[in-house]
Amino acid sequence: MTVTALHATIHPAVAGGLHLEVTDISVQTASVTSITFSDPSGAPLPCYVPGSHLVVQYGDGANAYSLTGSGSAPSEYTISVLRVEDGAGGSMAMHRLAIGERVLVSRPRSAFAPAATATHHLLIAAGIGITPMLSHSRAAAEWGVATSLIYVHRPREGPHVLDAREVLGPALTEFTDRVSFRKELTERLSNQRLGTHLYVCGPAAFMETVLGQARELGWPKGRLHSEPFGAAELDPGQPFTVNLARSGIMLDVPAGVSLLETLEKAGKSIPNMCRKGVCGECALPVRRGAPQHRDLYLSDQEKAANTTIMCCVSRSLDHEMELDL
Ligand code: FES
Repeated sequence: MTVTALHATIHPAVAGGLHLEVTDISVQTASVTSITFSDPSGAPLPCYVPGSHLVVQYGDGANAYSLTGSGSAPSEYTISVLRVEDGAGGSMAMHRLAIGERVLVSRPRSAFAPAATATHHLLIAAGIGITPMLSHSRAAAEWGVATSLIYVHRPREGPHVLDAREVLGPALTEFTDRVSFRKELTERLSNQRLGTHLYVCGPAAFMETVLGQARELGWPKGRLHSEPFGAAELDPGQPFTVNLARSGIMLDVPAGVSLLETLEKAGKSIPNMCRKGVCGECALPVRRGAPQHRDLYLSDQEKAANTTIMCCVSRSLDHEMELDL
């Protein structure tokens, strides 16, 4: 299939991006597949900061996926995609890609970079959350930066587990049960050398456990970094209607489709960067209705005020929401 057949219109999130070809596909687990993209001419690709993501267009939608390489002088980009059968269709479309197909992707974007001042990086990942951590680990290995990774995965179901073992060696600790993980977590968070930064990626509840415990143990906010799953891996949520008060438009937001996607499909150009609820770019003012906040950007106070919604991941608790748009 050619890129024009795949994308009738260019999605705003990948405008000015790169036309790449699928050059490798490998199965990680029963539900996770890695897909590698290269320039069809063999040209080198733009470098990226470890922990960056790529937005990939599928049909008229677009999803963000973490890159798994170190980011230095890349000749290819690799993402790993968790299959979500009841999502908006992005992950299923990625799983249907075949070698030789063309895709339109954004340039890599960074919203989860390693802290330059850290003396040690403590990475904690669960499941598909391993992907940005692999990028951090590979870059750290290249640059000789002290890094350790705690990886929680299902028995025999850990995506990139062999890669992580190869890159990190004894600096990798794996867990397949929660009780042992929690014990180790307490110990590690209590005994870190000065200047250590903590990075966590996984399901929301997992991240809250790790970050909550770090806060309780006195870790300063500036040393905590988190990267949630993308919108593609989130719960599809309930359908709702959004009323754009200034435009005089009502739009239906179906389950599994983000508010951001819905607005983009309606021709609205909304600033965005991470599409994962981290960067704060896609904030929209709420006039009426209670958002179901699913982002990591707004503070608890801002969330309670219900005056702003991060439209890439958050939805509405009410049947209808009114935005100042
Ligand atoms: S695009 Fe980054 S928070 Fe929505």
